Amino acid sequence: MVPQSLDAGKVAELVDAAASVVEAGDLKQALEALVDTAMEVTGARYGALGVLGDHGQLGAFIHRGVPEATAAAIGVPPAGRGVLGTITREQKWLRLDDVASHPDAVGFPEHHPHMESFLGGPVQVGGTVFGNLYLANKPGGFVDEDVALVAALAKIGGAAVSTNRLQQRLRTAAVIEDRERIARDLHDAIIQDLFAVGLRLQADTSLMEDAELRASVEESIESLDAAMGSLRQFIFQLRPPAWDHQRLTERIRATLAELSEAHGFPIAVAFEGELDELPPGIGDEVVATITEAASNALRHSEASEIRIDVTNVAGALSVAVSDDGVGFDLGAVELGMGLVNLQGRAKDLAGELTIETRPGSGTRVEMKFPV
Ligand SMILES: Nc1ncnc2c1ncn2[C@@H]1O[C@H](COP(=O)(O)OP(=O)(O)O)[C@@H](O)[C@H]1O
Ligand SMILES: [Mg+2]
Repeated sequence: MVPQSLDAGKVAELVDAAASVVEAGDLKQALEALVDTAMEVTGARYGALGVLGDHGQLGAFIHRGVPEATAAAIGVPPAGRGVLGTITREQKWLRLDDVASHPDAVGFPEHHPHMESFLGGPVQVGGTVFGNLYLANKPGGFVDEDVALVAALAKIGGAAVSTNRLQQRLRTAAVIEDRERIARDLHDAIIQDLFAVGLRLQADTSLMEDAELRASVEESIESLDAAMGSLRQFIFQLRPPAWDHQRLTERIRATLAELSEAHGFPIAVAFEGELDELPPGIGDEVVATITEAASNALRHSEASEIRIDVTNVAGALSVAVSDDGVGFDLGAVELGMGLVNLQGRAKDLAGELTIETRPGSGTRVEMKFPV
């Protein structure tokens, strides 16, 4: 919990950092911004981030505060023994008044600046440890407040790493199916992490007695919301821009042509009602639904026929994907990202997703929402 002594300015800085770290195009830049911000909000003189290699050893090492000439004189970056190793092993935040007196301490190499107060902990990405964030030499030593702030920052750093990895996947994604899925993953991974930070700050404000402080933190939460908004916008822009100017029926036909070709299997489509005057955002939802449900039919159903029905009747848009394949046991199968995402989409659209299926008797997935 963020204690009541928390400086509102620091929370605002933290929230601004969330936006800049996540928006930084380049991962190295993002991680440097993370270390800089951690130093700024705590007042630490030194900061570093060690990226863990495949076997838990310290790999890339980003450091701030130690002059280049000194770093060169020290030579190799830390190997991750001593207290740094303790953090990697225990994956917990460690706050020390004197790092050298920790039982695991191995001492500093020659030319290394003297470090005394220390705060370090893990940066996680999707549940696994990506690296460690370290700070040293805060005048007067680190306090509980610093741990709360830096742990929140580490979460933001994790979100930046996820964003970057997904962006890399996106660059190599060959087909629409992948692009759609990655955009959705990106959305889920980042927005949820930031959302969690926001929620936590929100919970913390209720414990704050100082009205001015509370107001300021609430303002910070609003700017975090705004950062999430611009991130959503960015994700939205991952879509091929030409789509906005294409009629929905044409977009659907193009999507199906691409899927059919990729899988070497024909997909029939039927339209009913007015579909070409809908706002472009709705078209995205329709195409995403078709892409996911049709890919499932193509990959899992062994059907001899797959058909899509898109209707706009009585104020409701319905997208149904039917196949005459093997079906599945809804109760027994573990839903993957695909169907879970469709459920999320239906909820966002104030609509519903219906899955009709039984082993041996085909599958029909319908997304229906008001327009
Ligand atoms: N049309 C279908 N025919 C048969 N099985 C299906 C169909 N759609 C989904 N499934 C089953 O439901 C599971 C979950 O689907 P989904 O959530 O899209 O995840 P994924 O496609 O990544 O496995 C699939 O792995 C498959 O077993
Ligand atoms: Mg799927």
